[in-house]
Amino acid sequence: MRLIIKILLAIVILFIAIQFIPSSENIGGQESVTDISNTVIMPSKVHSLLKNACYDCHSNNTYYPWYSKIQPVRLMMDTHVKEGKTEINFSEFGSYSTRSQISKLKGLANSIKDNIMPLSSYRLMHKGANLSDEEKNLIINWALQTSDRLSTKK
Ligand code: HEC
Repeated sequence: MRLIIKILLAIVILFIAIQFIPSSENIGGQESVTDISNTVIMPSKVHSLLKNACYDCHSNNTYYPWYSKIQPVRLMMDTHVKEGKTEINFSEFGSYSTRSQISKLKGLANSIKDNIMPLSSYRLMHKGANLSDEEKNLIINWALQTSDRLSTKK
């Protein structure tokens, strides 16, 4: 067999094999009592922007599009969700200490200001996650105001 055919065959076999890697589903069902929207004052517009652009990786509920069934896409998604939730989980925001809520809100504002979040690979696939400057400012101002309010309450 010619080498090129052998290589192509190996790639096809590898692609089929990785489809059997087990994957988990991050679906918690209903919105939790500890959801950020039930923890701090939050305009519904800000909540829907975060749900659209951040919740897939930073909450207990991920929406899985058809291509998420294909490996290695799913592996990448599972890693993002796992790492994203460790940094900030909007479904469990109410269970964080006030101090931690304050620092997470500041981090959130910075991540949007610096264009780090949502991840660029995600923005590529989800047109709705591309925030306009106006939307970014709305989230940043809300996050900073909320962290100030929590600081004075402490
Ligand atoms: C595609 C998955 C994904 C989406 C969507 C996403 N994030 Fe993240 N986020 C991550 C991952 C993975 C990390 C941890 C690794 C890192 O920092 O790159 C993270 C880290 C963070 C951090 C920790 C500090 C930092 O800057 O590293 C903050 C804050 C954050 N994200 C906020 C947000 C906000 C706000 C949104 C929505 C506007 C968002 N993320 C959307 C995956 C995502």
